[in-house]
Amino acid sequence: MVQFPEHFRWGAGTYSYQVEGAANEDGRGESIWDRFCSVPGNILHGDSGLVACDHYHRYREDIGLMKELGVQMYHFSVAWPRIVPQGRGQVNARGLDFYDRLVDTLLEAGIEPYATLYHWDLPQILQDEQGGWGSRDTAYAFAEYVDIVSRHFGDRIHNWLTLNEPAVTAFEGYEDGIHAPGLRDSRLAWQTSHHFLLAHGLAVPIIRANGDARTRVGITLNFTALDPATDTEEDREAVRFLDGKLHRWFLDAIFRGAYPADVLAKLGALVPETQPLDFLGANYYTRSVVGRGNNDLVDFTSVRVDGAEYTAMDWEIYPQGIYDMLVRLHREYAVPHIYLVENGSAFPDVVEDDGRIHDPRRINYLREHLLQVHAAVAQGVPLDGYSVWSLMDNFEWSLGYSMRFGIIHIDYATQKRRIKDSGYWYRNIIANNGLR
Ligand code: FCB
Repeated sequence: MVQFPEHFRWGAGTYSYQVEGAANEDGRGESIWDRFCSVPGNILHGDSGLVACDHYHRYREDIGLMKELGVQMYHFSVAWPRIVPQGRGQVNARGLDFYDRLVDTLLEAGIEPYATLYHWDLPQILQDEQGGWGSRDTAYAFAEYVDIVSRHFGDRIHNWLTLNEPAVTAFEGYEDGIHAPGLRDSRLAWQTSHHFLLAHGLAVPIIRANGDARTRVGITLNFTALDPATDTEEDREAVRFLDGKLHRWFLDAIFRGAYPADVLAKLGALVPETQPLDFLGANYYTRSVVGRGNNDLVDFTSVRVDGAEYTAMDWEIYPQGIYDMLVRLHREYAVPHIYLVENGSAFPDVVEDDGRIHDPRRINYLREHLLQVHAAVAQGVPLDGYSVWSLMDNFEWSLGYSMRFGIIHIDYATQKRRIKDSGYWYRNIIANNGLR
């Protein structure tokens, strides 16, 4: 029996735009993802989050399923366009009502809400009028919105995450153009990454001021294991820079108060504006094996690893990376508390003749990663909990509904929910607080 510590918590996650649907209801404003999805060619099959899993209306059923699985924490995000549809100013009471219902139902079910304040659905108007995260003003608008939400929920939500994966949204949204707002401008992408950290830094004291002794604040960062394609100085340098861009840029700013010198040398001076944290949310899925590209700032080539197993996302299954990440956060950054906020895998699941979803590869993925997580805990890494991505299949950004990450299956035609084999397996993990 591989046993996790007594205080360890087990969770599952979903995020607003990926599951809620009800995009035009109760006064919700347009988000950059609504706009991005409306442009033909941006999203596979022209999918969008218009209906998604209809979680906005079916949240009770979904919380019932969480309860059935024994889930102890629910990671969700608040949609800024529901709360402040015009980005700044007028508050939409019906938006707050939805999260009131959600949070109260969670608490009644004994499930702890972990709220992320920004999971990529910026009010479109802030993009149109001030260039979105390209502008410092968006960080100030975020602080106002955070004040509204944390004041309203400060008595019931004790665990807050300011932003989800700023590296992904800065670089995939502003450099690669594959996420909203779909821009391709490297310099601007770096600038937005700085504005995200500024927004985070502004939000932390506001959340604390609106909370009480139970309030804890963190941010969620994403981590990819990185290795050089060949044992050459060029490829090692490519790995070092990519690690600087995706990881150290954010970690150094948050935990050391300075941007990494080697990355700055390529960019020019910038000074991070952040605040100490209670905990870090860490997301881990895969590894990239990279070689040097042609362009200093952006271009890297990824190579496939012979004999390795890949998920439907074409992400290499590399469980050791989750261990290495946790140990690094502990040893190099002395992160005080860590939650694994996202870890999971997409496979082409089908409902079998017996009405069940047999997903042994997902179970195997989760098992292999949890064994590594446990090994990290045994090394003294202060990990307080683990959440699986995702509670249910949902809108996977530019890949639409083609990727199924859930431990609950969604039939999008009928909105029927079915717990997959992995969901039942996870229920046992939670019940035993460990693996057999
Ligand atoms: C993460 C995102 C999450 C989900 C998973 C697969 O980068 O935070 O919304 O799409 O990837």
